Amino acid sequence: MELLERIKLNAKKYNKRIVLPESLEERTLRAADEIIAEGLAQVILTANSEEVYREAKNLGLKHIDQAVILDPAKHAKREQYADLMVELRKSKGMTKDEAIRLLENPLYLATLMIKAGDADGEVAGAMNATGDVLRPAFQYVKTLPGISVVSGAFLMILPDKKWGENGLMVFADCAVHPNPTASELAEIAVSTARTTKSIAEMEPRVALLSFSTKGSAKHEMVDKVVQATELAKKMAPEFQIDGELQADAAIVESIGRKKCPDSPIAGRANVLVFPTLETGNIAYKLVQRLANAEAVGPVLQGMAAPINDLSRGCSVSDIVNLVAITANQAAGNY
Ligand code: ACO
Repeated sequence: MELLERIKLNAKKYNKRIVLPESLEERTLRAADEIIAEGLAQVILTANSEEVYREAKNLGLKHIDQAVILDPAKHAKREQYADLMVELRKSKGMTKDEAIRLLENPLYLATLMIKAGDADGEVAGAMNATGDVLRPAFQYVKTLPGISVVSGAFLMILPDKKWGENGLMVFADCAVHPNPTASELAEIAVSTARTTKSIAEMEPRVALLSFSTKGSAKHEMVDKVVQATELAKKMAPEFQIDGELQADAAIVESIGRKKCPDSPIAGRANVLVFPTLETGNIAYKLVQRLANAEAVGPVLQGMAAPINDLSRGCSVSDIVNLVAITANQAAGNY
């Protein structure tokens, strides 16, 4: 069975509550309708219900009446969520008035619903920039124990099946953290190995990439990757992790064998961890375009609850797919 089919089948089984805070946005509303029709998740929308129903009618949608709809301007848990915000951010000077004001923003409301246990996950970003989606998540949901940085992985589905595991590879960080330190890069490698195992359902063989293979170049940027590799191996000895490797040594069997014959993964990596966001973001987009790969994600990893960010150019099916992935993460698979 194809990866996305498997993810959707699992999502149906989990029946999680997923908030779509960009509730009046056309692609989001169409996706909500499809998600409900397919039974992929319970949909929560955060907007005025009359406006939602009017828009759904205009678009000819048939299932939106089955969504839970919460109006950010007036809902029963405003006070409770505001108190929670004040409690969680009192060291940053959060006041109740400020919290009430922020809760009118559906992105904050969605995050607080998750924090309060009233929703299991969130997908947004069809009309908001990454930073605006992530900031409330960083501030209120925060990271998993042992992880200090959130990062974004892409499941890269390549038409050429010789790469990775039958054409499936995982790339990270392609979406979030611009310039990780060595220890943050180690966390990103471990988070990506976990995502690979739980969402891509394959045994990760993780390569930390650089412009050097096992000391072939000397530079402080190489040192960072060497150090990150050592830290990642210590953090998660259960995974096969190696670095620093150049991309060809990581994925081309003959080159991996020649340049580092003792490496457990060289030439066979199915997970590529990039040293900076710049490299990761450029690499995934180039592979997507030049190799005709399907790039599914970014799947955000390291957050204490699943919140995923869409690209503003996303399609309805991108939103549906990411909701299914979020539902899988909400079931503890991350
Ligand atoms: N993981 C966890 N927490 C984080 C992270 C992270 N990666 N980054 C910031 N934080 C926390 C901070 O600790 C801080 O918490 P605090 O308020 O409790 O102290 C809070 O988030 C805000 O921190 P700032 O440093 O002010 O972060 P800022 O909001 O400026 O930036 C952001 C965060 C927006 C994610 C920034 O790192 C960014 O712009 N990243 C690039 C995103 C992007 O443009 N990606 C490419 C496009 S996506 C695509 O192509 C698929």
